[in-house]
Amino acid sequence: MQFDKHALRPLQGDGRKLFVETYGCQMNVGDTEIVVSVMQAEGYVYTDRIDEADIILINTCSIRDNAEQRIWGRLAEMKRLRRAKPSLLVGIIGCMAERLKEQLLEGPCGVDIVAGPDAYRDLPRLVREAESGGKGVNVLLSTEETYAEIAPVRLDRNGVSAFVSIMRGCNNFCSYCVVPYTRGRERSRDAETVLAEVRSLFENGYREVTLLGQNVNSYRTGEVDFPELMRRAASVSPLLRVRFATSHPKDMSDRLLETMASMPNICRSIHLPAQSGATSMLERMNRKYTREGYLDRIAAIRRYLPDCSITTDLIAGFSGETEEEHAATLSLMREVGYDFAYMFKYSERPGTFAQRHLPDNVPDAVKSRRLSEIIALQNELGLAAYRRNVGREFEVLVEGPSKRDAGKLSGRTSQNKVVVFDRGTHGVGDYVRVRITGCTAATLFGEALD
Ligand code: SAH
Ligand code: SF4
Ligand code: F3S
Repeated sequence: MQFDKHALRPLQGDGRKLFVETYGCQMNVGDTEIVVSVMQAEGYVYTDRIDEADIILINTCSIRDNAEQRIWGRLAEMKRLRRAKPSLLVGIIGCMAERLKEQLLEGPCGVDIVAGPDAYRDLPRLVREAESGGKGVNVLLSTEETYAEIAPVRLDRNGVSAFVSIMRGCNNFCSYCVVPYTRGRERSRDAETVLAEVRSLFENGYREVTLLGQNVNSYRTGEVDFPELMRRAASVSPLLRVRFATSHPKDMSDRLLETMASMPNICRSIHLPAQSGATSMLERMNRKYTREGYLDRIAAIRRYLPDCSITTDLIAGFSGETEEEHAATLSLMREVGYDFAYMFKYSERPGTFAQRHLPDNVPDAVKSRRLSEIIALQNELGLAAYRRNVGREFEVLVEGPSKRDAGKLSGRTSQNKVVVFDRGTHGVGDYVRVRITGCTAATLFGEALD
């Protein structure tokens, strides 16, 4: 297989400049790198300066209403840029493109190109259509597309850690969630292309890969399931750290935990979104596990990986949420003692099961109050979790200079916690043993031991 065939193809275009702005989850960050790869193969040149762009693509998110509102705000600003440069093309790609389709062509903020998450190979044609004065639209979802052999153009530039997409779509249909509608059915990417990408990253100096999907535990191609894929990725080199996101609690198997325990370079960090601590609520959410089932998986993680950090996602104020159900979420948080959590106020999404059948009936003020209680508790739990690390030693993978203090280095522990420490003779991509001497709720501070 010629993995980097796009990179080797001669330039065909006239060097028109492409700028891409990315919103939403890590899947979108990965998709932008695919988009840039596809467009470069057609001769477009990537720029990180919006003012010199000939084409602006906005890779969008629909997960909550405020995510879409931000993008509408950006589109209004694009109007100004287009006035200054009439030949400028603007496209919406990603989840919001899939959700709103042709509607995005209309109105004062109307765009020239609309491409859904499975239509990126078609972007050059869509752009040509727009260049010749038409509109380029493709929002077809696929049951097969995984962009398996397209080598993403890495835009992150730390050169140490990269995301590798291993599957697309989602079949879980949690009742509140728009993702199964914007990204289509779940499909796994061919294992050999995943591993070829991981090997090529390692050869190019990367020291950490995160395997990405909405529900990585259900990965399967032929004989290779997720634990086996992790084992193979982690076997590329003991110097390569391997992470993954996201795990659905219903599929978090003992076999995966065994595989993690047997390979020290698989990171001790699991993101296990709970969404709620009340079984009655989990049922309305169609999460397919109970509070007890979730806690059983937490106990299994602690058994196999006593040193593992556990993070989560929580939603406040979903349909019919009672005070008891909210209290159950708070008590679950205490019981697990999360290292970190993403916490959201429920936002009703058009087309979802909840929007059709479960009323958005928790008053906004109640949602906000519950969310602030969740956030306040997590601040307490997170600080306690960070404090437990003070006095301990960790192996830190250096990612670059600290943002706050360029005289210091910043890196991460296997548990995914940021550590800031004195520069010494170390550089980006090094593994350094660090003793933790202090912390805030989001950063550990330490001193290098070697
Ligand atoms: N596939 C991942 C999550 C993807 S979306 C998983 O299942 O864990 C990231 C998070 O956004 C979800 O975990 C959920 O907490 C939140 N979310 C999804 N839909 C939402 C909605 N309609 N309102 C508020 N939060 C939502
Ligand atoms: Fe959404 Fe549920 Fe799929 Fe996650 S698992 S993307 S929350 S439907
Ligand atoms: Fe948003 Fe789509 Fe990701 S809705 S969270 S960008 S899958």
